[in-house]
Amino acid sequence: MDYKKDYLDIVKSRVKETRYIHTLGVINVSVELAKIYNVDIDKARIAASLHDITKYIDIDTQKEMIIKNFGKDVLDSLVPQIYHGYTAYVVARDEFKVDDEDILNAILYHTNGRENMSTLEKIIFIADFTEPSRKFKEANICLEKAKKSLDDAVYYAIDEQIKYMESKEGYKIAKIAYKVRDYYRRFKVE
Ligand SMILES: [Fe+2]
Ligand SMILES: [Fe+2]
Repeated sequence: MDYKKDYLDIVKSRVKETRYIHTLGVINVSVELAKIYNVDIDKARIAASLHDITKYIDIDTQKEMIIKNFGKDVLDSLVPQIYHGYTAYVVARDEFKVDDEDILNAILYHTNGRENMSTLEKIIFIADFTEPSRKFKEANICLEKAKKSLDDAVYYAIDEQIKYMESKEGYKIAKIAYKVRDYYRRFKVE
């Protein structure tokens, strides 16, 4: 694969304007964190560029893609707001021929994270939560934490996400979110 390839035109043609601006923000923050943590900047840029590319594919098509590529059990373990990480993984791998496992996993797990993430996975997860078009104050707090400890920032982000979802009536939270929070609690910096 070509690590210098720029996916922005194609991303722009497939997502809404606000999502495109969000994507540019995720690229900027992930490149900034990649420099601090010595992660390959091209890999961070590619993962950030493609992470939300399937956000606007209709939900039934996404379900079919997940069943075909991951199986029905995986689909049943997910909630709809995390489908797009799984389908973006498929598009990145099959359509754009991304063959780097770490980039693909960073896309796959960007919504809920997972236990024992790689540095790139943590960077994309945190950049998604903290990029400048996220206007809540927790975004800034999380980014400041991330400059000192990615693990502490991951714990903070997932804890805030869960609290937010719990405050919303009728919001279904994926079990994996609690598992990931339990795993990262040990890295919490008081
Ligand atoms: Fe996303
Ligand atoms: Fe995103």
